[in-house]
Amino acid sequence: MRTPRLIGWPTATASTGAAQAAAEAERAALVAGLLAQPAQVSPKYFYNALGAHLFGAITELDEYYPTRTEAAIFSRHGAAIAAAVHAVLPSGHALVDLGAGDGAKAEALFSLLAPGRYVAVDIGLAYLGTALARMQQRHPQLELVGVGLDFSTELALPPGLVQGPSLVFYPGSSIGNFGPGESLRLLRQARAVAAGGALLIGVDLAKPRAVLEAAYDDALGVTAAFNLNLLRHVNRVLGSDFEPRDWQHVALFDEPHARIEMHLQARRDLCVRWPGAERRFAAGERLLTEYSYKWTVEGFAAVLRDAGYARVQHWSDERDWFAVMLAWG
Ligand code: AVI
Repeated sequence: MRTPRLIGWPTATASTGAAQAAAEAERAALVAGLLAQPAQVSPKYFYNALGAHLFGAITELDEYYPTRTEAAIFSRHGAAIAAAVHAVLPSGHALVDLGAGDGAKAEALFSLLAPGRYVAVDIGLAYLGTALARMQQRHPQLELVGVGLDFSTELALPPGLVQGPSLVFYPGSSIGNFGPGESLRLLRQARAVAAGGALLIGVDLAKPRAVLEAAYDDALGVTAAFNLNLLRHVNRVLGSDFEPRDWQHVALFDEPHARIEMHLQARRDLCVRWPGAERRFAAGERLLTEYSYKWTVEGFAAVLRDAGYARVQHWSDERDWFAVMLAWG
C-alpha cells in the first residue's frame, strides 16, 4: 500500500526564523484589523479545532441549506458532471481539492472522476495527514498528497506537484467568503493550477432574506457559538483578553452587496487589551468577522470569464438555491 506524501508549503516557513517572521506578520495583520474602523478579524480565525467541529455542526442544521443542497446536486447530476469533466480531461488526471478538510466531498466523487492523483490542500497539515492516512486504507492504489497551505493570500502549489491539466475542486461555496477582488485573484490562480484543465466549484445563490438570515443565525445558536469562538482563537494567537460573554452574534443580509455579513456586537462599553495595545468598543459597536457573498449563475459566470475561463457549464437544485459550476478553457 502507498503512503500519503505531506508537504508544508511554502517550505521556507519550516525554518525557525521564517516561521517567526510568519507569526509576526500574522499578529501584525490581526492587530491592524482590530484597530481599524470598523474593527475586523479574518474569518480564518473561525477554524481552530473547536471551530472546525462547530462548522461541522452547522452543516447538520435544518437552517443551513448549502452543504446538503450541494450534496444533492452531486448525487443527482454526478454522472453528467463527470461526463463534462472527462470531455475536458482524460481519466488519471490530478484532482486538486482546495480547503479539503477530511477530503470526504472529493472522495465521494473518486469513482466518477477516476483521478490518478489526489492533492488535498488545506491550512492544517496535521489534520490533513490523519485524514489522508485513513483515506489511503480505502484507496490503497491512489497517490495521495497533502499540501499545508494558506491559499487565502496566494494559491501556488509546489513546482512539479501537478503535471499537465488537472481538475481543481473548490466546493462548499467557500469562494463566497472572499471579497470581489480576492475571489477574482483566487479564480485566476486556480486556472493557472488547472493548467488547461478545469475548475469545479460550488456557488451559493441569492435567495429570500429570511432563508439566508436563518441559515446564519440558527435557532440553536450553533452559528453564534462558531462566531464567538473566533474571539477565543484570537486571544490565543494575540494574548488578548476578549470575553465572549461581552459580545453578541449578529448576521444580516446586505442586499445591495448581495452578502451575508457576520459581526460580533459589544453588549456594553468595554476595552480589549493585548501586549502593546488596546481597543475600546462602545456598547453596540461591531467587529466584522465574515462576508458570505451570494451570486446569480450569470453573475458568477461573468466573474469566471473575467478570470480567464472561456467555457462554463452549471448544475443546480430545483429551487435554484445553489450551483455547481464547471469552468474551463
Ligand atoms: C465556509 N463558508 C462557505 C461558510 C459560509 O456559509 O459562508 C462559513 C459559515 N459561516 C457561518 N456559517 C457558515
